[in-house]
Amino acid sequence: MSTKENLAAAFAGESQANRKYLAFAKKAEQDGYPQIAKLFRASAEAETVHALAHFKVMGGVKTTAENLQAAMDGEGYEFTNMYPGFIAEAKKEKNTAAEKSFQNAMDVEKIHFKLYEEATKSLKSGKDLPAKAIYVCDICGNTSIGNVPDTCPVCKASKEHFQEVK
Ligand SMILES: [Fe+2]
Ligand SMILES: [Fe+2]
Repeated sequence: MSTKENLAAAFAGESQANRKYLAFAKKAEQDGYPQIAKLFRASAEAETVHALAHFKVMGGVKTTAENLQAAMDGEGYEFTNMYPGFIAEAKKEKNTAAEKSFQNAMDVEKIHFKLYEEATKSLKSGKDLPAKAIYVCDICGNTSIGNVPDTCPVCKASKEHFQEVK
């Protein structure tokens, strides 16, 4: 493989390791091993350093306008192409847990697409988005600017599940 392909593979692998280790840290915490949890969180942080370094060398970070477009391209692909196919296959296999997980993600990617669209409009008029709190549902990832709904419109979780992003 070319170095370009290797960078893409390393970026994907390190990114996945980051999320995997955070999941492992949570489990270690629940199991009563706070120091092992800390080790997982430290390694997760290190994998992020690696992932971001690879991504930078790949030229993945461009102008904010270009980055918003790249984000919309990614989200758009996921909810128009990737997740519909994944959901159809999960249904066929009667894997309801996977179907739900894909469905939640697909619904939220549509919301992300719209939010990025708004951000692009703001940017084109020379402005940042208005300063407002942004919340994420810790069950489905639903992302809400400015206010928290009583129940999550995507997954029906109660509003305590919305965590403010700092
Ligand atoms: Fe998304
Ligand atoms: Fe939700």
